[in-house]
Order: sequence, then structure tokens, then C-alpha cells
Amino acid sequence: MSNNIVIAIDGYSSCGKSTLAKALAKKLHFIYIDSGAMYRAVTLYFLRHNVDLNNHEQIAEALKDIHLNFHSRDYQTHITLNDEEVSEEIRQMPVSDNVSSVAALREVRHEMVKQQQRMGRSKNIVMDGRDIGTTVFPDATLKIFMTADPKIRAERRYKELHEKNPDITLEEVFENIAHRDYQDTTRAESPLVRAPDAIILDNTNMTPDEQLQFALDKVDTIK
Ligand code: CDP
Repeated sequence: MSNNIVIAIDGYSSCGKSTLAKALAKKLHFIYIDSGAMYRAVTLYFLRHNVDLNNHEQIAEALKDIHLNFHSRDYQTHITLNDEEVSEEIRQMPVSDNVSSVAALREVRHEMVKQQQRMGRSKNIVMDGRDIGTTVFPDATLKIFMTADPKIRAERRYKELHEKNPDITLEEVFENIAHRDYQDTTRAESPLVRAPDAIILDNTNMTPDEQLQFALDKVDTIK
């Protein structure tokens, strides 16, 4: 049995999971793993190689050719897809528009979950995503389920994306978030759902510092 600490942060799209996860990892000197970046990188590969999402053989072949790696720098997500740095490209709309369909595929989830479990086997980690507290680490030391008002979530994400892509509209971002939430909560394979033992954190009216303090207080109770 390993004694490492796993903090699982799940929740809806764009509700600040990664902001909290990064801050928490930094404060606790844990490793931060952005599981969404993995599904996004797989999606980028599938888009580039025109992988047919109905063709199980093609999906299995593609997964064999995909090698993902995280490079930790300043607690930001740096992910490589077959040695190419794709951290910026995976945040763009073409990937956002397709990621939830790719993430619903059983073969894809199976492979990603296996890799995520390997990463958390012996180290203290904070991992954020949709199924971390339910499927990846059902025995996580601490589970937080995050949510926030959908309008606020869209505004926050719009601000982030608009800096680099001035053509993007708030409506487009809102639609994407709503659509992904729908796909993520209704899919057959490990849908987004709160683990019964996860603590709910609604950060609609909270600053990043306040949510960090909220999480640190919970961490104190498990130490
Ligand atoms: O940052 P944002 O909340 O927009 O999304 P993300 O964490 O980058 O995840 C992108 C997409 O990957 C989600 O909408 C899910 O469809 C999928 N995902 C998943 O299915 N399981 C995870 N553990 C993480 C992400």
C-alpha cells in the first residue's frame, strides 16, 4: 500500500478547477496533473489524422501512436504530443468543440485512466478533471467537486481566450461550455457526477484566494 496523498478535483467545464488545482499543488509542493489536457491532446491528434470516431480499429491504432508527456514548469500545464509542445493549441476552439465526443469513447478513457493511475501511484498529486474522484482515484484522500454559475464560467473563459483570439465571441464560448457539460454528464462511460464523498465548492462569488483557503482548510482536516 502506498501512502501518497491524492487530491481529486472534479467539476463542470471552465469553473476554475485548474486555477485551484495549480494553487493547491504549489502551496503543498505536490505534483499537478491536468487530466483534461490529455483528452484535449488526444483530440488534437484525432483531428489532425482524421480519425473516424465510429471506427474502433482506427481509434485503437491511433491510441498506440499517441505519446503524451507532462513537463512541469511553474505549475503550468506543459504537455507534449509525440514530443511536440501542444499546450496552446489544445485550448483553441477546434479542440474544445470536439473534445467531449472524443472523451466519451471507451477506448480513449480506458487508456487515459490507466496512464493517470500510473502517475498517481507513488507521488503526492493534485489531479483535476471529470472522473478523478469517481473512477481514476475512488480512494482519493480528498475530493472536491466544483461548480459555478454557467454565465460566470463563460465570462471567465471568454476573457482568457479573447486575449489570444480577438475573433471569439462570448456566445460561442457559452455554447461550447453548455454543450460539453451536457455531453460530459450524459455519456455512458464514467460520466461527470459528484462522488458521494466529494465536498462541493461553488465558486461563483469567490476569489481564487478564497477558494484556495477553502481547500487548504479541508486539507488540514485530513493531515
Ligand atoms: O478546462 P475545461 O474545464 O474547459 O476542460 P478540461 O478540463 O480541459 O477538459 C476538456 C474535456 O475533456 C471535458 O469537457 C471532458 O469532455 C474531457 N475530460 C474528461 O472526460 N475527463 C477528465 N478527467 C478530464 C476531461
